[in-house]
Amino acid sequence: MTTEQTIKPEQSDGAAPNGRDVLSVTDERTGRQYELPIEDGAIRAAHLRQIKVSDDDFGLMSYDPAFLNTASCRSAITWIDGDKGELWHRGIPIDQLCEHSNYLEVAYLLIFGELPKKEQLDAWVHDITIHTFVHENIKKFVEGFRYDAHPMGMLLATVGALSTFYPDAKKIKDQGERYMATIRMIAKMPTLAAFAYRHNLGLPYVYPDNDLHYPGNFLSMMFKMTELKYEPDPRLAKALDVLWILHADHEQNCSTSAVRSVGSSDVDPYSAVAAGVAALYGPLHGGANEAVLKMLDRIETTDNIPGFLEGVKEGNERLMGFGHRVYKNYDPRARIIKKHVDAVFEVTGRNPKLDIAVELEKRALEDDYFVKRKLYPNVDFYSGLIYEALQLPPEMFTVMFAIPRTSGWMAQWQEMVDDPEQKIARPRQIYTGGGPRDYVPMDKR
Ligand code: ACO
Repeated sequence: MTTEQTIKPEQSDGAAPNGRDVLSVTDERTGRQYELPIEDGAIRAAHLRQIKVSDDDFGLMSYDPAFLNTASCRSAITWIDGDKGELWHRGIPIDQLCEHSNYLEVAYLLIFGELPKKEQLDAWVHDITIHTFVHENIKKFVEGFRYDAHPMGMLLATVGALSTFYPDAKKIKDQGERYMATIRMIAKMPTLAAFAYRHNLGLPYVYPDNDLHYPGNFLSMMFKMTELKYEPDPRLAKALDVLWILHADHEQNCSTSAVRSVGSSDVDPYSAVAAGVAALYGPLHGGANEAVLKMLDRIETTDNIPGFLEGVKEGNERLMGFGHRVYKNYDPRARIIKKHVDAVFEVTGRNPKLDIAVELEKRALEDDYFVKRKLYPNVDFYSGLIYEALQLPPEMFTVMFAIPRTSGWMAQWQEMVDDPEQKIARPRQIYTGGGPRDYVPMDKR
């Protein structure tokens, strides 16, 4: 019996709804009936285990590859309404945060749950600012990579390496250590990212400038040359800050669940965040903005769009930057980024790929294939254009995502550590192999 069949109301015994938060289940294999409590719109998968055909039966499991319909935690950090295309952090809509806040304040909000008072924000920004430097050995570590190493690979390794510099971070129940790890991670991520970028160019690494604000310091570490003091363009710094707010958290996405899953072993947060960086590296997640730019390059001119879309519809490739597991409407972050594209191009000059992107979006949104599947632009569709305008190579795009997502990862990690219901993550499987069978010695195979 499929799930769809079991929930069709006309197939029930016709009993009137009685308003109880209970799921009544009949196991047709045994004729036994069960009542499973419904809490917050969910049943507990563990309650299915009482459904057995015999005493030695393990009990019923739920099978959910890729967690399409499984809540793995309770979280008060981020809310997404995929159908309406809404995103809130700690209850505050993302567009309000982009308009009135800045990235470091949003990071505070994610981690502590409330907007900071002035003294709290000042202390937070101060603590982050004075932890932007990394140990000189980390610099040497970056130097050890090949000249053309992918910057996400370098970031992944250096974030993991931080755990060896701060061994006390493994005291994960110690609030002071946790605070320091959070500060260090948010403070050092831009430094590691900029070092990786300069390494690829064969340029000397630029040390942090703690007179500058968070995005300004990042621009300085990336682009400073012989000038004594780098002066970041406020319009670029603002656009970067907004992009970082937009990427700060997105509830239980692939990289965040990687951080939670790895962190559930009680490993230190640097190692858990390194797992998040690894997950983000993939082209279906944070690597999508890099893939969007490569796709726009291949399309070359707006004349080639119809042919490209035909190829997508035939299943030869995907329209990168389109579609989302949760959003079945326009990703609100894509809408906000689109607004900032023009501000950046005012400084950097217009990127001709924007015309291709705008036309591609328009045609896809009019096309039955995309309409039927509710495929809309996601956050990555336009972010790559801004990064390219900042003269960043596509390999750096995912790194630009990892910098702000660090605050979300740390907020989610802390929530996980404090959640008394969480245990080491350990999914079940449905075994499809054979056995038992005897080992065959080499000469008999
Ligand atoms: N282009 C063409 N078709 C698509 C696309 C796309 N970008 N995305 C989904 N589809 C189609 C699928 O082929 C499938 O069609 P079918 O029903 O005929 O088989 C249907 O839409 C549903 O797609 P799924 O793959 O089941 O959706 P899922 O939720 O698993 O995937 C994902 C979501 C991975 C984001 C997907 O839409 C995708 O690959 N998009 C392109 C990559 C991308 O932009 N990733 C960034 C996501 S946002 C982020 O990580 C920050």
